[in-house]
Amino acid sequence: MQELTNAINSHLACEFQASHAYLAMSIWLREKDLAGFSTYMQMKSQEERGHADRLIAYLVDSDEQVELPAVEAPERNWESTQSLFDHVYEMEKDVTASINRIYSIAEQAGERSATAMLDWFIAEQLQEEAEARFVRKRLRLASDNTAALLLLDQQFLDGTALLAVKGGLATLKKETM
Ligand SMILES: [Fe+2]
Ligand SMILES: [Fe+2]
Repeated sequence: MQELTNAINSHLACEFQASHAYLAMSIWLREKDLAGFSTYMQMKSQEERGHADRLIAYLVDSDEQVELPAVEAPERNWESTQSLFDHVYEMEKDVTASINRIYSIAEQAGERSATAMLDWFIAEQLQEEAEARFVRKRLRLASDNTAALLLLDQQFLDGTALLAVKGGLATLKKETM
């Protein structure tokens, strides 16, 4: 279905752009010696590439054309770790809106394979927004306190920073790619 294929192809730009943006953030954080936050962002960058791969696989399996987007140079400076995470949150909300749009198109067209594939993304976006919101709030609590910032950074290194985020639709995401 052409409209759906076009929508998925234009959504690919969101995923590639997010991957690129997170890589730039990872570099900035590394330069600030926030190794934990930086590692987290690097992992997120790879995840976004994985999201693009999922969509590409769907198009190929559906015998539809893949059109890879041009990727713009991302922002590479932020005022603070806090403003960087504000940006993450806004970006994830935009990605969610784009997924919801594709979902509506797939639903209206009765494309069950597309809605089944997109269910994974619905769960993923719920979790991504929840994580971004959580980190933002923790950074607000830390405010200008360097010790608190370093504690959060260490938690990212230890893998404990996000244990409190529940991932409300996690059962939709069992299998990984
Ligand atoms: Fe994504
Ligand atoms: Fe994301």
